[in-house]
Amino acid sequence: MRAVDIIIKKRDKQELTSQEIDFFIQGFSNGDIPDYQASAFAMAIVLNGMTPFETADLTLAMARSGQVLDLSKVVDIAVDKHSSGGVGDKTSISVMPMVAACGLPVGKMSGRGLGFSGGTLDKLESIPGYRVDLTTDEFIQQLKDKGIVLTGQSLDLAPADGKMYALRDVTGTVPSMPLIASSIMCKKIASGAQAIVLDVKTGLGAFMQTLDEARELGQLMVDIGRLAGRKTVALLSDMNQPLGSAVGNALELIEAVGLLHGHAPADYYEHCLHVAAHVLVLGQRAKTLDEGRAMAEKCIANGSALEKFRVLVQAQGGDVSYVDDISKFTSAKYVQVIPAPRSGYISQVHARIVGEASVALGAGRYRKSDPIDHAVGFLIQKKVGDKVETGQPLFEIHANDEAKLAEAAQSVLSAYGFSDEFVPPLPLFYE
Ligand code: URA
Repeated sequence: MRAVDIIIKKRDKQELTSQEIDFFIQGFSNGDIPDYQASAFAMAIVLNGMTPFETADLTLAMARSGQVLDLSKVVDIAVDKHSSGGVGDKTSISVMPMVAACGLPVGKMSGRGLGFSGGTLDKLESIPGYRVDLTTDEFIQQLKDKGIVLTGQSLDLAPADGKMYALRDVTGTVPSMPLIASSIMCKKIASGAQAIVLDVKTGLGAFMQTLDEARELGQLMVDIGRLAGRKTVALLSDMNQPLGSAVGNALELIEAVGLLHGHAPADYYEHCLHVAAHVLVLGQRAKTLDEGRAMAEKCIANGSALEKFRVLVQAQGGDVSYVDDISKFTSAKYVQVIPAPRSGYISQVHARIVGEASVALGAGRYRKSDPIDHAVGFLIQKKVGDKVETGQPLFEIHANDEAKLAEAAQSVLSAYGFSDEFVPPLPLFYE
């Protein structure tokens, strides 16, 4: 078999066999197939798609590129949650400690930034020392001892996704149903959780722009999860505007930790409680969503979720003092508040434009080797449905470069829409 023939077959819209997919993924993972062929393969998939069978084969091949953990030997039930990607989506950082504090073990493998969408691993690395490359043994031991793990792909766990993910980020090959489904589900299968809640985003700042596409992606991932013997559900949530206020790595981490301290923007707080309730029900800790929600609220109020986050940070080598004193986070050189150019109701905060502006500030990558600037980003102060008067703060820019700050101001202003008529707030969830 030759990699080039497999690329050509997909380029010519033919269905690949399990053996061909396996050959390609194993070859890419062990270094025999170079980045340029993997990029061409990914682009052929973006352009020509894959059948559900091919997608399932791709998922399993990527999961098997490393070890596939069986956590049923470690804990009774481990849960996981994953987002399909969005702007300002720091949900996992708040929800996972909440759920773990309610006594449900969490074993989670996250990803880095992808295109205009931020990534949990980049956000967590805003905490000095925090390790996202745990080995299999470390993953299992920490799950047993601490009841929570939040790590990334490693040489042991889903290495093919780690490599493919980095390529997709910078080769225009992110928005593809089979690539997203296989990337998410291979991590879920490899890290071994038995119950998985998927938060599938739809809208202007999601990879699936319409509800129909998001539903299809959700169904595909649920089918793959169930095929692999995992209890899997998908929620469809709004990503037309950024979630919460913060966009950018350290800013988002601060907002996520803020929620554990008991203060957070209302939409973000509500979103997290809803996701946490679903995880608690799927993990059989709560009988109903109302009960799950009450449990999640209680563990914020009594400080146990925050304590769980401290335990997590310490276990993975991070400096816990940052959790208690957010003023320690690296801050940007320039902070500028942008006022509303007119009065009215906010009718749009185009999430993708905000996400792209955040990458341009340095919060994401244009090349695989680009370093991340953890300090830069935005605080979005006015959201869809809010009423503003001319001159009131609309958003705040955190930048380390004056020219980039000026460009970001223009971009994010262009993301805003205004209306003289009342505009209702956007829903948080669709299904
Ligand atoms: N999250 C992932 O892990 N992979 C994707 O492709 C998109 C979101």
